[in-house]
Amino acid sequence: RKRFEVDRQRTFAMIKPDAYTNIGKIIDAIYLNGFKISKLKMSRFTPATAGVFYGEHKGKPFFPNLQQFITSDVVVGMELVAENAIDKWRQLIGPTNTAVAKTDAPDSLRAYFGTDGTKNAVHGSDSNGSVKKETAFWFEGNPSDRPMKTTAQLNS
Ligand code: TYD
Ligand code: MG
Repeated sequence: RKRFEVDRQRTFAMIKPDAYTNIGKIIDAIYLNGFKISKLKMSRFTPATAGVFYGEHKGKPFFPNLQQFITSDVVVGMELVAENAIDKWRQLIGPTNTAVAKTDAPDSLRAYFGTDGTKNAVHGSDSNGSVKKETAFWFEGNPSDRPMKTTAQLNS
């Protein structure tokens, strides 16, 4: 192949319920950091689909909070493409806990847009296997798909 071709990789990203009103700024950051968006879909988790997506965390003490939060409003799922996309996106979002992000990675998306250890604004897949599973789940298998209303629309 041509020597200037880069090795493109895909990852799965989400803008969580606490951050979808910042979608413009987050999408700006995605492009400014060299990613392209190849798929994007706004949808909403149910308690059951949250249990599927976060299956590895079921039974952990923080799971009920996570489930409550992630089902509280709409979520924007995206497939991102870049060289080294999985690690590059994890780097850009920063540490899981927003408090840690604010001290250790002040320019990360979680530092900018997150609130605490649960409301941390964005998701990023952690491995190739997670990318495949999460992308398929969000774009092909999410049974909660239906016409979406945001909380703002429901309350107006
Ligand atoms: P995890 O996969 O460990 O973090 P990451 O999102 O960085 O891959 O956990 C999934 C989500 O669960 C995390 O984004 C926020 C929530 N969570 C808590 O609410 N409390 C916790 O103690 C942990 C570890 C995670
Ligand atoms: Mg994780």
